[in-house]
Amino acid sequence: MPREIISLDDLTVNNVGVFKKINSVTLPTTYPEQWYKDSLTDQLVKIAFYAELPVGAIKARAINFSAKQSYEAISSSPSASSSATASSDTTPKILPNAVYIESLAVLKEYQGLGIGGKLLDFIIEETKRRYIHEVVLHVSTENSKAIDWYLKKGFTKKEEVKDYYKEQGLSQPDAIILSLSV
Ligand SMILES: CC(C)(COP(=O)(O)OP(=O)(O)OC[C@H]1O[C@@H](n2cnc3c(N)ncnc32)[C@H](O)[C@@H]1OP(=O)(O)O)[C@@H](O)C(=O)NCCC(=O)NCCS
Repeated sequence: MPREIISLDDLTVNNVGVFKKINSVTLPTTYPEQWYKDSLTDQLVKIAFYAELPVGAIKARAINFSAKQSYEAISSSPSASSSATASSDTTPKILPNAVYIESLAVLKEYQGLGIGGKLLDFIIEETKRRYIHEVVLHVSTENSKAIDWYLKKGFTKKEEVKDYYKEQGLSQPDAIILSLSV
């Protein structure tokens, strides 16, 4: 299948509704309105199109955490808005040292076609362009399909974060941190 059929585009006021829809039908987590509002000014957001149909999306942000801190210190439970939790926002003089993937989703019918890989590649390239050397994310410990997918992409498992998804009401609220050196 030719990969040119997949293209990425910026998030705009015109397609933010599509972004919400893709996340809501694909991910077990929900995000507040402010999170979507913030997405319009974030640079690390892309919508993926398959034959011009919007079918996937990724959102990430540059963060900073001290090497002394645990990965658990990345306080970014999906129910909180990124502006309230991003350490890079509250301490603007500290340079980011990781790019944190907040959401990545591809509609079920379009999975396995290279769309998620293309969205991830965009984030990896943007991470390198910022001279940052790590991509990190939380994923539910029970989402073995996504964990295996990230492991295949070269990510490694870090700490488990107990109750990370508790406020989201997931039956298994624990998350695992996955990290990729780039
Ligand atoms: C995880 C997800 C984003 C992957 O996107 P995708 O478009 O299906 O992935 P791609 O088509 O780009 O990946 C294809 C590659 O992954 C491999 N792959 C697919 N499923 C896999 C699995 N369960 N385990 C390991 N590898 C897998 C394929 O073999 C293929 O490898 P290749 O590139 O070497 O040929 C998508 O499945 C998804 O949205 N899942 C539901 C939401 C979710 O769990 N998001 C992640 C939580 S943050």
